[in-house]
Amino acid sequence: MSRSAHPAGPRHADVLPEGHYSAPPADLNALDSKVWARTVERGEDGVVTVGGISVTQLAEEYGTPAYVLDEADFRARAQAWRTAFGADADVFYAGKAFLSRAVVRWLHEEGLNLDVCSGGELVTALSAGMPADRIAFHGNNKSPQEIERAVRADVGRIVLDSFQEIARVAHIAQSLGKRQRVQIRITVGVEAHTHEFIATAHEDQKFGIPLAGGQAAEAVRRALQLDGLELIGIHSHIGSQIFDMSGFEVAAHRVVGLLKDIRDEHGVELPEIDLGGGLGIAYTSDDDPREPHEIAKSLTEIVTRECESAKLRTPRISVEPGRAIVGPTAFTLYEVGTVKPLEGLRTYVSVDGGMSDNIRTALYDAEYTVALVSRTSDAEPMLARVVGKHCESGDIVVKDAFLPGDLAPGDLIAVPATGAYCRSMASNYNHALRPPVVAVREGEARAIVRRETEEDLLRLDVG
Ligand SMILES: Cc1ncc(COP(=O)(O)O)c(C=O)c1O
Repeated sequence: MSRSAHPAGPRHADVLPEGHYSAPPADLNALDSKVWARTVERGEDGVVTVGGISVTQLAEEYGTPAYVLDEADFRARAQAWRTAFGADADVFYAGKAFLSRAVVRWLHEEGLNLDVCSGGELVTALSAGMPADRIAFHGNNKSPQEIERAVRADVGRIVLDSFQEIARVAHIAQSLGKRQRVQIRITVGVEAHTHEFIATAHEDQKFGIPLAGGQAAEAVRRALQLDGLELIGIHSHIGSQIFDMSGFEVAAHRVVGLLKDIRDEHGVELPEIDLGGGLGIAYTSDDDPREPHEIAKSLTEIVTRECESAKLRTPRISVEPGRAIVGPTAFTLYEVGTVKPLEGLRTYVSVDGGMSDNIRTALYDAEYTVALVSRTSDAEPMLARVVGKHCESGDIVVKDAFLPGDLAPGDLIAVPATGAYCRSMASNYNHALRPPVVAVREGEARAIVRRETEEDLLRLDVG
């Protein structure tokens, strides 16, 4: 479609809501390395490649929509976290961001530990050979069966989330003749600077035990008394997509304050502290995430300083990045189905996926960018909204983005930074078949999670 077919194009910027793009980027064919996986580039023929393979070849072999994951980038980011924190700290990849058996093997090979938060994630980790002592088991409502499975497997730690769970895990461990290593997750009253629904350390929420009112201190008292538990540390997770380290500073101060109170009351110095995950990534060119070495330096300095002033031995630190490792390593590849210009407003571009493969826009108002990847274009930019094929008007993948005005059905477009919380939150809404995750590395591609089939859908429908 030529620009003349989009007469409203140049006036689109007038109707943009405040705070959104006011002008199209200088070059719509450019790919900002901040938001795209590291091996992504545009070839001389205009087609985008990843790991040396073109998106057109990937679309032909695996279909669309598909999550395309740059394995080399994943390994490099995992390794950067591992190296940044060094041998005196532990990095637990948060499996909720995206977990598959291949991912577990990569993490194992790169020397990372793994945080799981359900029986399903635990079984995936164990079946792919992650040593149990490198697994942390999370969750605010673990079932007795899940707890028993974790204790029997000898997981490295269970993170206790409530008073009832303290008693439950102690009872199960004791009845199995074991002493389970545990941490207590506390809420320190810090609200990270992020969307309300994904900020998890303020007190009015379902996770953890509040520090306020002495509840965390009481939880420690109980855990220390129970034979089935070995209390190794305190856990705090303050939110998601965080860029500002000041929230961690306050959290560390409060956690160390609790460690000091524990030492004073019980004569025990707990050896570990976990500061959770939540470090932000670039979803658009406006985001400026920090590098793992800066984060490691900052967190280590904060904890060391707090411990020195509390006259405590510095505990072993652990962190749980999920999004910061896997998020930037994947993009979602879609085929354009229909292009619908709305005079004076914007152009709706419908793709062959939608909220079933990326719920984050509908759920969190998340922002993404998008690019035409099967060719270049010199057409004028048009303000577009990329939407899915589901029966919901809120089925939006990219709310505001500029795409070339000649975009047409059959073009391939890709949304970068979809490695985290997209496949793991994917649904079968409208009986969509969840897309595959295709890992690409050095000229080779393979599905590490295959596309669902109609047989998969019908197998669960037992009539
Ligand atoms: C306890 C805990 N650790 C780690 C994470 C991972 O967060 P992110 O993927 O933002 O790093 C989460 C996310 O909700 C969490 O709840």
